[in-house]
Amino acid sequence: MEYSFLKIESKDGICIMKVSAPKSLNALNSTILKEIDDFVSNLDKSVRVLIITGDGEKAFVAGADIAEMANLNEQQGYEFSKLGALAFRRIETLEIPVIAAVNGFCLGGGCELAMACDIRIASNKAKFGQPEVGLGITPGFSGTYRLAKLVGQGYAKEMIFTGKVIKADEALRIGLVNAVYEPEELMDKAMEMAQTIKEKAPLALQYAKECINESYDLYADGAIEMENKDFGRCFATEDQKEGMAAFLEKRKPNFVGK
Ligand code: CAA
Repeated sequence: MEYSFLKIESKDGICIMKVSAPKSLNALNSTILKEIDDFVSNLDKSVRVLIITGDGEKAFVAGADIAEMANLNEQQGYEFSKLGALAFRRIETLEIPVIAAVNGFCLGGGCELAMACDIRIASNKAKFGQPEVGLGITPGFSGTYRLAKLVGQGYAKEMIFTGKVIKADEALRIGLVNAVYEPEELMDKAMEMAQTIKEKAPLALQYAKECINESYDLYADGAIEMENKDFGRCFATEDQKEGMAAFLEKRKPNFVGK
């Protein structure tokens, strides 16, 4: 498959997948989600470590594509959520380690993509958040599930309920990322970590990942499906239409709870 929105570089067993949609800060539309799904499903067996990052200096991924979502109905909202959730679950369950190198805005579906990776490192310019409720929707690509697991329920609920955006140092403090670097150092540090991992025994790495995921993932599929359904339900509300229209018209939304 030819990719319109992914840039792939692969050398000596380390592969870099860059999400590239510069006009929308790498926002994830359904074509990109299908490309990611295809890419991770068909990853060459010679790849031992995958690094995921965003193209350009400003964004890792600024979320799911709001313009595409604005007019979806409940069923379409559910399908859209499922598309991203399945692609991200494939990343989470890949046999090889996956590092997210977060280089800028990492919001909504972007934060969800980073959280599906095994390890996150960030530039000091990165900003993280789950701003969905400000658009009249819930997080959709398994953010409710993974954020709570990673940073604990209390902080996850604060982030999801307030939609607040946090800086890289705060993401480090709460354990959302493992390390923070100068922007120009980020990819070198990601490569360094990938190189260290690559020198270890592939099967031992695969089994270690499976073991860590096994207890962590106990209720994953049920929790993810529930989120897909609730994400879809949001698209039957006036608030979702208002929230997304407000973003696209660059104004504040007026939510009515319907
Ligand atoms: N979807 C579609 N377009 C997006 C986008 C998104 N998530 N994020 C940014 N863009 C577009 C903007 O509309 C803008 O397009 P135009 O130039 O045509 O106006 C362009 O990218 C540049 O963005 P801004 O002008 O807004 O840049 P900024 O520096 O002023 O602000 C930002 C950057 C704070 C990231 C802001 O763009 C923003 O708030 N984006 C939306 C973030 C968001 O809400 N993400 C969650 C989406 S919902 C989701 O992800 C659901 C899910 O869980 C599956």
